[in-house]
Amino acid sequence: MPFLALVASFISMLYNMTATILRKSCRAFKDVLKNNFFEHQLLTSSSNMLKDERTTHTTVDPADVEGFSKLMKEWWEPNGQLKSLHSMNLVRIPLIRDGLVQCSLTERNIKPLKDKTILDVGCGGGILSEGLARIGAIVTGIDASKELIDLANVHKDLDPRIAENKPTYIHATVEDHVNNFKNYYDGVVASEVIEHVNNKELFVKSCVTSLKPGGRIFFTTPNRTRLSQLGAIFLAENILRIVPRGTHQYEKFITPNELTFLLERNDCHVEAIYGLFYHFITNTWQFIGPQHLMYALQAVKLK
Ligand SMILES: C[S@@+](CC[C@H](N)C(=O)[O-])C[C@H]1O[C@@H](n2cnc3c(N)ncnc32)[C@H](O)[C@@H]1O
Repeated sequence: MPFLALVASFISMLYNMTATILRKSCRAFKDVLKNNFFEHQLLTSSSNMLKDERTTHTTVDPADVEGFSKLMKEWWEPNGQLKSLHSMNLVRIPLIRDGLVQCSLTERNIKPLKDKTILDVGCGGGILSEGLARIGAIVTGIDASKELIDLANVHKDLDPRIAENKPTYIHATVEDHVNNFKNYYDGVVASEVIEHVNNKELFVKSCVTSLKPGGRIFFTTPNRTRLSQLGAIFLAENILRIVPRGTHQYEKFITPNELTFLLERNDCHVEAIYGLFYHFITNTWQFIGPQHLMYALQAVKLK
């Protein structure tokens, strides 16, 4: 009996201790959320990042671009290592379409972007460029990788749906391209690119300069938060292997606040920021409220 009582009191003590630890952890977690720990948007770290990057006069990180060039054999494989870029078209193309043309459902046709000029910065092998061309846009795709531009040029001849409206691909950086195309495009898109470039200040400025006043610019990119470090790098690259290993570096991610700051400095007004979530089992994307993992941003050039 005394032995049973001893066991019972030991179990009850364990239970109480566990309950207390759980309660305290929950409270700490709530505090962490309230204090925006995941945002990790310390102004000092942001300004240091921009200052460090300003010392380079090109937006190209050669090692990064070389890494993408090596993926050229995989690029157009819908179930290969870049499958998330293919499936992302289902959310990013409607975002760009609706940002560039506002019309009622009855007025909408199958080429809603007809006559709209779009610059696809960092177009890679052309997954997004071709998607935009299919709905009528006059697309120019530029990329720092010569191999990927060559691939895009080969692939554009394979799809009969764009036979009458093939994108134009150029091996160039945006800071070089803009010298001949100032205030030119109706839309500029940098999807999954800004997290790979050096000197984000020059990159954003060049993208905006190529845009017409009143034109719209679109970005999709991971946020720089501990949660995206866990999801987009640790889980996606190392555990689930749904993104090629080494694709992302946490330090190069940019927060929505930092991107907004750079855009506003270039006379843009940020119209919308949406959180993006990737369901890796179904290979589908969804717009969500929270922006801790990834986000899409749309801005208009005011003048
Ligand atoms: C993740 S891929 C995205 C490709 C494409 N935007 C898409 O979503 O299908 C990133 C691309 O950006 C290109 N890139 C990286 N830095 C660049 C720079 N500074 N200027 C132009 N392209 C760049 C890479 O070569 C690569 O093709």
